[in-house]
Amino acid sequence: GNPALSPSKPAHMSTSPQHALRVLFVTSECTPFAMTGGLGDVSGALPVALREQGLDVRVVLPLYRSVDRGQLEELPGTLLVPTWDGAASARVWRGWLRAGTPVYFIDYPGYFDRPLIYGPNGGAYGDNLVRFAFLSRAAVELTRFLRWTPAVIHANDWQTALVPVYLDAFERAWPLSACASVLTIHNIGFQGVFPVEDVVFTGLTNGSSRGIEHWGSLNLLKAGIERATAVTTVSPSYAREIQTSQFGSGLQEDLRARASDLTGILNGIDTVVWDPRSDPHLPAHFDERSFEAKRECKAALQREAGLSERDDVPLLGVITRLTHQKGMDVLARALPRLFELDVQMVLLGAGDPEIEQSFVEAARSRPDRLRAWVGGYDNGLSHRIEAASDFLLMPSRYEPCGLNQMYSLRYGTLPIARATGGLDDTIEQYDERTGAGTGFKFHDLTPTTLFDVTGWAVSTWYDRPQHIRQMRARGMMKDFSWSAAARTYEQLYVAASRRHRAPHAVDSVRALP
Ligand code: ADP
Ligand code: GLC
Repeated sequence: GNPALSPSKPAHMSTSPQHALRVLFVTSECTPFAMTGGLGDVSGALPVALREQGLDVRVVLPLYRSVDRGQLEELPGTLLVPTWDGAASARVWRGWLRAGTPVYFIDYPGYFDRPLIYGPNGGAYGDNLVRFAFLSRAAVELTRFLRWTPAVIHANDWQTALVPVYLDAFERAWPLSACASVLTIHNIGFQGVFPVEDVVFTGLTNGSSRGIEHWGSLNLLKAGIERATAVTTVSPSYAREIQTSQFGSGLQEDLRARASDLTGILNGIDTVVWDPRSDPHLPAHFDERSFEAKRECKAALQREAGLSERDDVPLLGVITRLTHQKGMDVLARALPRLFELDVQMVLLGAGDPEIEQSFVEAARSRPDRLRAWVGGYDNGLSHRIEAASDFLLMPSRYEPCGLNQMYSLRYGTLPIARATGGLDDTIEQYDERTGAGTGFKFHDLTPTTLFDVTGWAVSTWYDRPQHIRQMRARGMMKDFSWSAAARTYEQLYVAASRRHRAPHAVDSVRALP
């Protein structure tokens, strides 16, 4: 079975450890229940790591159609959610992540019982503003429904960026007046921008909507940045980059205004789900001392991909959203030259229809070089590709953190990546004199540079196998677990909650007769 799933609460775990710091983690994706990308991985793992550290962390997620209700339990009672259109009645279900981490599902079929999370073909449903405003407001109300007051509500990306705004606008009374908010930016390219007249759908008024407007539109992420107690993003490099006009997507000024409250905390990975020694998706298991079985994984994938079963040719893997952010347009243009090299490539991805089409065509014209699984999402296959490949390509234009390069390093697969954001923070450049490093990084995002750096990696693979072996072992031994990040988040929660409470403490002193 899936080791991420733990459908019933472990008997020794209590839902509310006494005196533990309480954190409500609000998200629009959470693996293994519902995900489209890295936000899902993070939401399924960080709360568990915090819980293992003794915090009372609970997760809130919509009850999407894709969530398997068989493992959930419906809680008694009705959750009343104030909306722009009056109060709405939702139901609440509860499931579990590992370590006895509760996940509360907001059941409101009108908004969430749909085939997809955000909309068809990478696009958006027309009512996404209403849907995610509802989720944000429901999360705040849930604390009353549970009679459980968190010290911090942690929101993620634009979908839940209204949480800090709602807390600030509507929760001036005890006990939620003492609740701090943290907003994590996983990707500044998505800000939740809507026509300004749609503000009515948020339930906010002229008096309460401070900060929500940006250049004549609504901008939910910007409002959250302005009104959260603390703002984080998912790597130290990205925290610096988004304060510049090159990477800030128009919010650089707003981020600079909050520079002293903005921290970059590098994501971890789930080292139970991503473990080459026990991964149930793999045909064979391996570790940093024995790579033999990695060969078996490679041979099995070559068969699955219909590529010739050769150990003497480097296998390049790609697992990604096929978008401009990921540099996939540039990779597509580099393919003709790349395929002059003796290499094989397997690609798994979905996204931009034009980019999808270019890989479908490339695979059709060079079936000896490329197998492309395009248009679908396949978790098991993504594990098999990580394990089988010699190199993983990540030519991202920008990358807030990136998880695949860490999965790769753990699976003895060397990343070939652009030196940006979290990629730059997690990959050490190869040094051909000493054999040091864990991957191959480059700066200019052009087909020529991508070809050159891949050529560098491939020639190292042929000419210096000893260096490749050392780099693999080095990468596999790196600690990418969540524990370091979880400790930093805990410190941040404590500081945010102290800082948030300070003005109120002063008020109550003043109120004494
Ligand atoms: P992002 O969140 O920007 O897409 P990340 O590297 O943080 O990038 O996370 C991407 C996650 O989604 C990884 O777990 C990756 O393996 C997974 N993924 C992306 N596309 C697919 C796909 N088509 N099938 C399976 N997994 C995918
Ligand atoms: C976003 C980013 C990715 C990051 C993920 C999780 O989707 O694009 O770089 O790893 O969020 O934080």
